[in-house]
Amino acid sequence: MTKATIATSPIEGQKPGTSGLRKKCRVFMGDHYLENFVQAMFDGIGGVAGKTLVVGGDGRFHNDVATQTILAMAAANGAARVIVGQNALLSTPAASHLIRLNKTDGGVILSASHNPGGEDEDFGIKFNMSNGGPAPEAITNAMFERTKVIDAYHIWQGDPVDLSTIGTSALGDMQVDVVDPVAAYVDLMQSLFDFPAIAKMIKGGFRIRFDSMCAITGPYARAILEDTLGAAKDTVAHATPLPDFGGMHPDPNPTWAHELMDEMMGADAPDFGCASDGDGDRNMIVGPNCYVSPSDSLAVIAANAHLAPGYKDGLKGVARSMPTSAAVDRVAEALGLDCYETPTGWKFFGNLMDDGRVSLCGEESFGTGSDHVREKDGVWAVLMWLNIMAATGKSVPELMEGHWARFGRNYYSRHDFEAIESEKADVLMTALRGSLDGLTGQNYGPLTVEKSDDYAYLDPVDGSTSAQQGVRVVFEGGSRFVVRLSGTGTSGATLRLYLEKVETKALNLEPQAALAEVIAAAHSIIGIEGFTGRTAPDVIT
Ligand code: G1P
Ligand code: ZN
Repeated sequence: MTKATIATSPIEGQKPGTSGLRKKCRVFMGDHYLENFVQAMFDGIGGVAGKTLVVGGDGRFHNDVATQTILAMAAANGAARVIVGQNALLSTPAASHLIRLNKTDGGVILSASHNPGGEDEDFGIKFNMSNGGPAPEAITNAMFERTKVIDAYHIWQGDPVDLSTIGTSALGDMQVDVVDPVAAYVDLMQSLFDFPAIAKMIKGGFRIRFDSMCAITGPYARAILEDTLGAAKDTVAHATPLPDFGGMHPDPNPTWAHELMDEMMGADAPDFGCASDGDGDRNMIVGPNCYVSPSDSLAVIAANAHLAPGYKDGLKGVARSMPTSAAVDRVAEALGLDCYETPTGWKFFGNLMDDGRVSLCGEESFGTGSDHVREKDGVWAVLMWLNIMAATGKSVPELMEGHWARFGRNYYSRHDFEAIESEKADVLMTALRGSLDGLTGQNYGPLTVEKSDDYAYLDPVDGSTSAQQGVRVVFEGGSRFVVRLSGTGTSGATLRLYLEKVETKALNLEPQAALAEVIAAAHSIIGIEGFTGRTAPDVIT
């Protein structure tokens, strides 16, 4: 075993403003690429000498090899200790928990989240801080600056560490603890939710289908639902994490989790359906013939979280990303809770949680979570729903109908236009921003524009600002649409159009029909077809 310093040259690193680096797997596999970024990452946090890190990933192709590289580099850079999931596996929320539980200096998570995996698909890497949450912009920008000038990296050269056996070993002077990726997380869930009540409901014949989509949540969902709560042995589908996710696109939405959707809309649907994404932070909730939009799920959880033991004293406050529907705002208003609106991306919630302002956060993009970790958490959301159902004895459709009857309904949908040429998407956004001044008072069918802006955020905790976070157009009566470009896509640009309509009377319409006028107004204001040639979205959620 020798410690080496290898000369290298700058790479194209992480885009500023994004919380992780995501590229095609083959890019990461290229000469020195991963090594360069890992060194830039370590340098960006001021080095890792004497520090303890958590390392693990979602099991996608290259996860194992990349983990060995990170361990060898952490050791050569003087890290004191690394806690790594057995077989290099850790879900993103479990990694966040291990960072917090062990009071480490942070962690490296390997994942491209809900993007497909495989040698020709996506790979990713990100750094989480000692609070368990994604690195803030100042840090990721420092990493980015390092990638532009990097000229050498440090690495131990020798045999790989045995990651298949739980236990402690050493790599040079660095201690390596291989831990069960699931155990500590199961304990955490048990401390938050009423496991006996959920187990009783399951024993009474309540049937669940959890689709892990051949990604990381399989072992977690099996350990909790099947082994601990007594659900049937085939409750978790696609339960083994595979390097290519079995060819599945592990994004839990109606389009990609269509197997689950078909089952839940079928004649013999289980009582509860749910799915999670590649790295286990996203979730989708479905009842028999009843899809729950993520914005509604957040609102239902806000209204009922006190039924779970971990939240019995009520929530400190709630937060949602700006494009997420205002359904949760109505609950917050009724319950007298503070409600925050933040730009898209989980990192903005971290400050609010660290400051004790909120304990529940959510995004329309199938992300829900609480201050138990500093990431969104798919399995957590599923258990929260099961806890609510066990405590109320109500089905998913009953919960939704009761919720809408009490708070009104925010019809909601997101239309994604994918792989647009980046230049065209930029021209569209610039033109849209430029047109906002003249919009107020204009009529589009029955809708009249009340106001519009380009959303900017002032963080109430650290005073930082984030501009150009999405154009929003609000109509009289509260309907609105929002347009922004995705920051996580890996090919071209993805235009996201978020649509919302508030309704207090007709509560059982089909969402696309309920939103038809908003959709028409949005297209005529934005001119999507004129700028991109696209008439219909690629994905509707
Ligand atoms: C998407 C979602 C966003 C989420 C992020 C990471 O980002 O829209 O809510 O936080 O993935 O899961 P986007 O591609 O829109 O920038
Ligand atoms: Zn994810």
